[in-house]
Amino acid sequence: MQITLLPPLPQSVFAKRRAKFAEQMPNNSLAILNTAPTHIRNNDAEYKYRADSSFFYLTGFVEPESVMVLEKLNNTVKYTLFLRKKDKLREIWDGKRVGLDDAKTDFNVDESHAIDDINEIMPNLIFGKKHVFARFNNDLIGWLEQAKLKQRGEGVVETITNIDSLINEMRLIKDEHEIALMKVAGEISAYGHVQAMKTVAPEMNEGRLEAEVNYAFAQYGCVPSYNSIVAGGDNANILHYVENDQPLNDGDLVLIDAGAEYQHYAGDITRTFPVNGKFSDVQKQVYNVVLKANIEAINSLKVGEHGKIHHETALKILTQGLIDLGILTGDVDKLIEEKAYTPFYMHGTGHWLGLDVHDAGRYNGDDGKPRKLQKGMVITVEPGLYFAKDNELVPEKYRGIGIRIEDDVVITDGEPLVLTGDVPKTVEEIEALMKID
Ligand code: GLY
Ligand code: MN
Ligand code: MN
Repeated sequence: MQITLLPPLPQSVFAKRRAKFAEQMPNNSLAILNTAPTHIRNNDAEYKYRADSSFFYLTGFVEPESVMVLEKLNNTVKYTLFLRKKDKLREIWDGKRVGLDDAKTDFNVDESHAIDDINEIMPNLIFGKKHVFARFNNDLIGWLEQAKLKQRGEGVVETITNIDSLINEMRLIKDEHEIALMKVAGEISAYGHVQAMKTVAPEMNEGRLEAEVNYAFAQYGCVPSYNSIVAGGDNANILHYVENDQPLNDGDLVLIDAGAEYQHYAGDITRTFPVNGKFSDVQKQVYNVVLKANIEAINSLKVGEHGKIHHETALKILTQGLIDLGILTGDVDKLIEEKAYTPFYMHGTGHWLGLDVHDAGRYNGDDGKPRKLQKGMVITVEPGLYFAKDNELVPEKYRGIGIRIEDDVVITDGEPLVLTGDVPKTVEEIEALMKID
């Protein structure tokens, strides 16, 4: 598998996005966007920092304690960034900072200020503006109050709009740069799953296999885009199982739901395969139902279709499969109407994917109905069947089997583009890959 890495996006890409965002701002308005806070894990140990996705989308800036401001006056847009000042001592402890000067030269910032001064400066920026786009938080309330005091109640802000509602719509349709990065995220994610398939063996601990996947991601400078799920046997029936600390048993399947984050873009793949390299007949029967649902649901994703078409497609195949397996009886359409599949399939068939694994963008239009698919949307397709050990609605032979198969798909003008095709998913392909010569 040949994976070609890409250079970071040039600043011009972020500048264009800001310009596109600003087109939606009326004159005499201000947009304020903060990045993510740091998070304490315990005592004084922090989680590794990850910038806010929307903030990154518009700035390309990844340092904590940063706030972007766009000011639109007389059809001119000024970009101000609040960020951490250079600080020799703090940089020895915590690492380099861009600083106020380099922010201007390296990040196309018109004006930079120390984040420590934001409470003094922001009310002045708001002063006299009619419209503000921001996140509703306590900082904003304080700044608005200050601005109002300064203005003695005259000509105060008239509208405050949730900035995310505009950015989310932009993020929903991926541009060519994003698709290129997501292709690589898909390839690296696929590589992690291939390595897991090659490595797994009976008695191995789930945690050891998780490390294999995460190590494969790290070889390309990636971290997992969410907590990897490595679930042997019945653990696969816990949808968000992340303990990953049990031994993998000979004869069981293992479900891995893991994706690499590449240049802030998420991959999200699930594969389910036999710990010993060979599917049993019963496992194969169930697996092939889910596989058919995965393939047909992917093929249903076309421009102009409604955004739940893949779920509807998957439900038909899964429900028919449940009949064929002898778990449900009756008419497919009626069973779907009654949601008879719920004890065995209790989640949706996908979600938007991008900078966040569950990415930005509404699923329904203003009419409350699923919105139509458009070119450049990226969506996961992840049908499954879950037969928990204690589920007495299924014959005993199926109990303890949990299967999900997940791929990442771009909506195009033509056929759907699968980003995660480099990891096998048919029984034959998986067994061939896992075969020990
Ligand atoms: N890995 C999270 C999801 O599949 O939704
Ligand atoms: Mn997913
Ligand atoms: Mn997933």
